[in-house]
Amino acid sequence: MCGIVGYTGRNQAVGYLLEGLKTLEYRGYDSAGVEVVGTDGELHGVKCAGRVATLVERCETANLVGTAGIAHTRWATHGAPTDKNSHPHRDCTGRIAIVHNGIIENFRELRSYLQRSGHTIVSDTDSEVIAHLIEDAWAGPCKGDLVRAVRHACRRLEGSWALAVVCADAPGQIVCARNGSPLVVASTEDGAYAASDVTPLASVASHVIQLENGQFARLEASGAVEVFDEEGVPVAVPTTIDIDWDASAATLGGYADFMAKEIAEQPEAIERLLAGRMGEHGVFLDELSLTKEELAAIDRVYLIACGTSYHVSLIARTLIQTWAKVQVICDYASEFNYEQDVLVTPNTLCVVITQSGETADTLTAARRMRGMGCKVFAITNVLGSTAARESDGTLYVQAGPEVCVASTKAYTAQMVASALLALRLAEARGEMDRSEVERHYRDLCALPDLIREVISRAWQDKRAAALFRRAHSALFLGRGVNATTALEGALKLKEISYLHAEAYPAGEMKHGPIALLEPGFPVVAIVPEDRVHDKTVSNIQEVIARGATCVAVATDGDEAVASLVEHVLWIPPVSDELLVPIVAVVHLQMLARYVARARGCDVDKPRNLAKSVTVE
Ligand code: F6R
Repeated sequence: MCGIVGYTGRNQAVGYLLEGLKTLEYRGYDSAGVEVVGTDGELHGVKCAGRVATLVERCETANLVGTAGIAHTRWATHGAPTDKNSHPHRDCTGRIAIVHNGIIENFRELRSYLQRSGHTIVSDTDSEVIAHLIEDAWAGPCKGDLVRAVRHACRRLEGSWALAVVCADAPGQIVCARNGSPLVVASTEDGAYAASDVTPLASVASHVIQLENGQFARLEASGAVEVFDEEGVPVAVPTTIDIDWDASAATLGGYADFMAKEIAEQPEAIERLLAGRMGEHGVFLDELSLTKEELAAIDRVYLIACGTSYHVSLIARTLIQTWAKVQVICDYASEFNYEQDVLVTPNTLCVVITQSGETADTLTAARRMRGMGCKVFAITNVLGSTAARESDGTLYVQAGPEVCVASTKAYTAQMVASALLALRLAEARGEMDRSEVERHYRDLCALPDLIREVISRAWQDKRAAALFRRAHSALFLGRGVNATTALEGALKLKEISYLHAEAYPAGEMKHGPIALLEPGFPVVAIVPEDRVHDKTVSNIQEVIARGATCVAVATDGDEAVASLVEHVLWIPPVSDELLVPIVAVVHLQMLARYVARARGCDVDKPRNLAKSVTVE
């Protein structure tokens, strides 16, 4: 949560800082602010509740002139989203300013201590204490050395932080610190940059330095970047990662919103992921970093994730159990972390699934599993993310930057990645012969065109959206793997349209949710041609008998379903029914988007949400 940008160099800072904030807005967008070290040797800043667009308007009249500055877009944790609580926060002298992403757990003690020693704290945030601690260090033992002053202050902090600090008395410098929350910095001819992730840096640098926990960095106007460890010792070889996507990947490129763009990008994302994955030795998944023998010995798999990625784990469970015949346990990371007994065997593999690679609960779960001696494998989208760096192996799904808060292309790509893992396990365990593996791989390779076909039918979703006009709630039903498609469809609808939606395995409807049904109540039933098709049709009959309005996701040519329901979202036939969720969900993504737009919602930035949930 929260996005940080910093720049010091030969250009004016504010333009880049505001552009950078726009690309990080998916990390939080309830308030924003910017601060520059002015040519008059003073700090000048603007901050306000609301989105980056509001900040941009305010900056137009503020005349922020300066070549070094920091900026922040916030997702409130401590203190309401108000002007006063927006970052940057200043110290009492008004000569030091900080931006912070993370949570300072001991801020109450620090606040009392600082107030007792004469500091005036003006905000309700946990972050402001950091500026005051730096002030004391700067005025006392660390005068003239901003890195030392920041290090000194950080020693008193408990919790997580990514920090960028400017000081009017150290013009041209930005000092950064990292502990638990991500931060990258870059050195270029035009100056030095800092950001919460690579997105704002893709237009200015080809590689970045990834700060590790406990590290600090000094950025200079010359572009020089120095990295230090906790003791202040320079780090000779900091971790560097290449940025392998072009800046345009994070721009709208003619689409109305990022959700539309990211839905459209799904076929190419899956093609990238699958390219070259089948070789003469079978499925190529070297990222697993396990030998064939180690893979064959795996007797239990834990899949741990949150939100949409948790839905991926439910599909992955079916694929791994069906294809590789290994027992799989799925858990929400936030639940897993507080379970008393975790039953691992010496050969348990833990797989964490996380688009951002920064979800705090998922990272905690991965650490817990490693602590129990399990190998941890990450399926993630973000290069160099914490999940990737802390795992024994990482499969990058290569979906490209996902800007819309609601996950779409990462969801389908993560399901395909899970299918590759299931195939690799099945092969290593001797559960599938070569021709079967190749057949499944061919089925996966057919998915991009099937998704293209569904996308070309977006008009069907637009029409179906009209049926939700007067709804207060909706029910999603499906069986087998498509019980998960129902869960994901309901999540997409509620998070971006604010329309309450609930998902149930279709056969469970009669055990409670059927009481919701009344004339006009919208029900979305996922009923493809599969082994449970007729059972789901019976449930549709029950829905219709109560006067509810049924929208079905059905396979081309299914006239029986078409004759029953109000509206059909057609999918082309999928050769393996276990892969239907990867195709069918695309209709539900588009449906949610049309409903949300009809209700006037901002589909890319739904209220109260943030893309990277870096707090537990
Ligand atoms: C919903 C959505 C969230 C995320 C969840 C986990 O559309 O995107 O539910 O799936 O916050 O995020 P990651 O996958 O980054 O760990």
